[in-house]
Order: sequence, then structure tokens, then C-alpha cells
Amino acid sequence: MKMWGGRFRQATNPDFQRWQSSFEFDRRLLSHELAASVAHARALKNAGILSSEELGAILAGLEQIADKAASSSAFLEDEEAEDVHHFVQKQLALLIGEVAYKLHSGRSRNEQIAIDLRLYIRTGIDQLQNDLAAWLDVLLECATQAQNAVMPAYTHLQRAEPVLVAHYLLAYVEMFLRDSGRLADCRARLNLCPLGSGAVAGATIPLDRRAMATALGFSGPTANSIDATSDRDFVIELVNALALIALHLSRWAEEMILFSSEEFGFVRLPEVYSTGSSAMPQKKNPDLLELTRGKVARVIAAANSLMIVTKGLPLAYNKDLQETQEPLFDAIATIAGLLPLASAWMKTAEFNYGRMRETADSGFMNAWAAATYLVHRGVPSALAHEQIGIAVQLCLEKGCGLDGLSLEQLRLLNPVFDTDFYACLQIDSVLAIHDVAGGTAPDRVRQAIVQARQRIAALREESHANA
Ligand code: ARG
Repeated sequence: MKMWGGRFRQATNPDFQRWQSSFEFDRRLLSHELAASVAHARALKNAGILSSEELGAILAGLEQIADKAASSSAFLEDEEAEDVHHFVQKQLALLIGEVAYKLHSGRSRNEQIAIDLRLYIRTGIDQLQNDLAAWLDVLLECATQAQNAVMPAYTHLQRAEPVLVAHYLLAYVEMFLRDSGRLADCRARLNLCPLGSGAVAGATIPLDRRAMATALGFSGPTANSIDATSDRDFVIELVNALALIALHLSRWAEEMILFSSEEFGFVRLPEVYSTGSSAMPQKKNPDLLELTRGKVARVIAAANSLMIVTKGLPLAYNKDLQETQEPLFDAIATIAGLLPLASAWMKTAEFNYGRMRETADSGFMNAWAAATYLVHRGVPSALAHEQIGIAVQLCLEKGCGLDGLSLEQLRLLNPVFDTDFYACLQIDSVLAIHDVAGGTAPDRVRQAIVQARQRIAALREESHANA
């Protein structure tokens, strides 16, 4: 039996029927549909619509549906079901007879899909928070292991200044901590229960909305039935947060691809996560990283798609909203697939600290430190910059580093240069002068690692408390 057949004299065109059905993808909402139906059934009983026996039959039927779905995937092959809501009604009727049709009293699929999506996203966020925490642990572990290893930091992809490898890795920790914060914000904002909103104007039966919200772990009921049945902000918010995660992963992947090239030689590609070439026998290709970089496209596309679907939609529910489901599912599945693989890759990859240090030791990356030497001796910074620039030019002509200039040559540029200048050019001194919170001086980085560890632990605690 259809959920809406009564007023129609003609049968639905079968091609249209198949085409408009969402069961093929919304079946993944089944467990949430069942949980929401349990809460609704109890509210119907309290409102006097269901007797205790009827409630018992409905609850037992819903449980049986869950069991059947868990034990056989064939159970979910149903060409006739229009969507997950119709499927449950149909199966319930097969199991318990006509009383099944009482479950739909006072409710509409418009609120059902709204609650199913909120529950689905809530579960998805809790899972993603675990994956993110594990990824952050790996990044932090790599930072800890790197100890005092040094590498060049780049701006404009040109060598800029030496930094600790740990400092570089902590930059990614910051990005993914922000991502985790965005997921937590999104979860808190969506955690309101639309049950009792009906089709658009509110349920036609006085249901205890607060009780339903509490039973399903929401912080309360949504405030407006028109909004609750048409709102997909929470989907858009989540998928945009996922797009940022994807974007961060793609920046990481791009750097690892660059760093693993012969030209950089900073990272050795793990064989277990690389592939070969069918033509060139010598090749080891970073496919995991390339696909990571590539998959960001579909998550950004999902975020765009959601906004295009909802832009300009009149209030309240419109069937267009069904089109918000697949981009959401795909975006969550994509990120859930990426994070554990990124973690595994990072655990297995080896950094070539020797090569990194060699690179950090050349290319005038101590030039700013050299100018700072002059600033500490009272030279105005713009003039110091100019004078070290001339010194660099001189070195380029002579084919040496700044430490290859004699004191006489330096004093021609500025008489304040002294023998202690050469010490300030050493990598360790260059690192040490970046002695500010958030800078790369080794003590600062050690503190930053400790703080990052605490922040990750707090995040983990918060998401466990939610879940
Ligand atoms: N499958 C629909 C969706 O995803 C469920 C809601 C249908 N509501 C309706 N009034 N036809 O949006």
C-alpha cells in the first residue's frame, strides 16, 4: 500500500515511480528511522492514540525489522518501497497487520526525513571525530619522533627559513584541530529534534515533543515547524566542514608528493601504499597521496551541490530536498575512507632527516637572522635588510654562504659586524632566535607539543561524552 494513493485514480507511471524512489540510497537511514519511530510510537501512546497492546505490537515489529535488516541484505532489496519511510510502514504491516498503519498518526515524512538526517549526521560526526583524533595522534607522534630534526620552511615555495620538522608537522595539527572544532560546533547546533513538526504546521496530535527529543538524545525540540521541515543548514554546514578537512588533506598530500620526489628527497614512499608503473620498471608512484588530493573534488562538489539544490527554495518542504541526501552520504564516506589511510601512510612513511638538514643548511636561510644581528646592534631594520641583501649578492658572485665572507668584507658594509656574527649564522642559533609563542625555537616547539597533546585529549573526551 502506497502512503498517498487514495486521491489518485490512475496508477503511477512505473518509470517515474522508479526514478523518484530514494530507497536505493536512503535505506542507510533505516536504523535512525526505526529509532525515531519508537519515540513517536511512545508519544502516540501517551497521547491516547495507541493502546498499550498496540504500542507493544508496534515496538516488537520495529525491532523485528531491525533484526531482519541486520541478518539479511536481501531484506533491503525492495523495488516497491518509495523510500525508507514507506519501507518501514510496509514491512511493519506485513509483520503485525493493520495496526501498523496507526504508527503514522499525526506525523509526516517531512519531519521523518529531517530527523533521520540529523541522527545520521550525529552518528557520522562521532565516528569522524574518532578518525580525526587518531590522525592527530599520528601527526603528533611524528612530531615527537622528529625531535630536533630541521628542515627548510618555504614561502612562495622558495626556501625561506629553517624550522624544526616538528614545528612543520604541528601546522597540520592546528588545521585538523580546527576541523574537529567545526564538527563539534555543527553537532551542537544540529542537536534539536524535529519530531512533532508534522508536514509543515506542527503535528495534528498533542505529542510530547520534549519527551521525544530526550529519548533520542537531543538537547530539545526544534522551535518552528516550518523551519524544521525545510531546514538543511546542518547538512550544508557539515559538508562544508568536510570540504575543509578534504582541503587540508589535499594540501598535506601535495606536500608529501613533492617531498617524496627525487628533487626534494625528504620522504621515502612506503611500498605498501605505493604502486608501480606498467611501463617504467623503476617507478614507485604515490597513488594514495594523489587520490587523496583528487578526492577533495567530490567533497567540494558535494558542498556546492547542496547549496545549489537549496538556494531559492520556497518554504517549506520541497521534494528537491531529497537531492541533499546523496552528496551528504558521499562526502561522509569519502572523508571516512581518507582519514584512516592518511594515518596509516604517515605511520609507515620515513622522513630523511639528513637530507632535510642538508637542504636547510644552504640557500641563505640564515639571511633574516643575519639582518637581526644588525638590528640588535642598533641598525634600523630596513638598512640591515639592505646590507644583508648586498652581502647575499656578494656571496652569489663568490659562490659561498654568508659565513664565507671575511670580517673585512662585512665591515665594508657596516662597521658593527664582529666575530660573533658567524655564530648567529648557524642553524641552531637561527632556530633559537625564533623564541616566541608559536615560533620554531626548540623549547617553544616542545611546549607546543605538550599543549597539542592536551588539546587532542580534551577533544577526545568531549566527543566520547557526546557519543
Ligand atoms: N524521500 C523523501 C526525501 O528524502 C522523504 C520525504 C518525502 N516527503 C514528501 N512530502 N513527499 O525528502
